[in-house]
This record gives sequence, C-alpha cells and structure tokens, in this order.
Amino acid sequence: MTATPPMAHARTPAPDAVPTESVRFTVNGSEHTLELDTRVTLLDALREHLKLTGTKKGCDHGQCGACTVIVNGERINSCLSFAVMHEGDEVTTIEGLGTPDDLHPMQAAFIEHDGYQCGYCTPGQICSAVAVLDEIRAGIPSHVSDDITGSFAPTEMEMRERMSGNICRCGAYSNIAEAMAQVAGESA
Ligand code: FES
Ligand code: FES
Repeated sequence: MTATPPMAHARTPAPDAVPTESVRFTVNGSEHTLELDTRVTLLDALREHLKLTGTKKGCDHGQCGACTVIVNGERINSCLSFAVMHEGDEVTTIEGLGTPDDLHPMQAAFIEHDGYQCGYCTPGQICSAVAVLDEIRAGIPSHVSDDITGSFAPTEMEMRERMSGNICRCGAYSNIAEAMAQVAGESA
C-alpha cells in the first residue's frame, strides 16, 4: 500500500498580509499609478500618497464635507470612496482649481468676501461651490429647485441648500453664499 502523498499546502495569505491593487487616475491633470491597500480611501490616497494635503480630513465619515473633491465633474466626499474605485477617473482637488498667482474665480471670491476664518473647511467648501454652480447650470434639481427661474441666478436658499453638506465650524456661511452669488453673477 502506497503512502498517502502529503497534501499540497494551499497558499493562504499571512494574517497580516495587506490586499493591494493598482489604480491609475488623473489628479489635477497629472496621471498617477498607485499600488494601494484596497481599503485606502481616495482622501488618504490624495493626502498620504500624493501629498496633496489641501484636501482636508474632518470627520472621515461623510458628515462634514471637508474632504470634498471633484471627480469627473461631480463633487464627492473623498473619505467615503475607496481609491481603487477610481480607475481612469479625473480628480480635481483645491490645488488643481487655481494657484496663488492664478486663482480660480471662486477662490478669489472667497478671499474678497471673507468666506472663511480658520480655513480648515475652505478647500472642501470651494470645490463644492464650484461644482454646485455647475450643477445649477446643468439643471440638476435640488430640494429647492423651484427657486431656479430659468436664468442662471440661483437664490441664496438654493445655494445654501446645495452646500448643506459642507459644515463650517466658524460659521462663515453668509460670506460663502455671497462669494458664490458673485461668481454666479459673473458667469450668468
Ligand atoms: Fe469626509 Fe468629513 S472628512 S465628510
Ligand atoms: Fe473654520 Fe470653516 S472657516 S471651519
């Protein structure tokens, strides 16, 4: 009788092995390929791997909006999205909107209207504000869309409603709405 051959050892990952995956996306016009732990959020990929620390981590669970970035033209909370889900995507962060020498109109308007105090929420507020005006231009409805009269003249209530996911502990809401109204007026 022949001896039973030893069972082939299944290759099981060590308990502390980290599942990784490659992802390629474009951030602020530059293409990046990263090998990431599949649990890494887009927020941490931007901040910890690409060193784009303009995007802020507030709550890290979708409640404050500090981490807002624009992906394929739409604003998202980057803390709620795994980086590896963004294969082929175009990501814009606050660093990609403008530079100190060439500010985006929304950045310039925030400065003009004092749309911040400590500034921690500001990158997310500005990314969200830029995308909000694009949403209104595109006719994407909101809870108070009846306030849109057909022309590109969003009311303060319309803008505040759409910006309600971006919390400001310093309470700069009125100034932020003024900055947005100015940009909306300039681009009407
Ligand atoms: Fe993402 Fe607060 S850090 S919503
Ligand atoms: Fe301080 Fe908004 S400016 S939290």
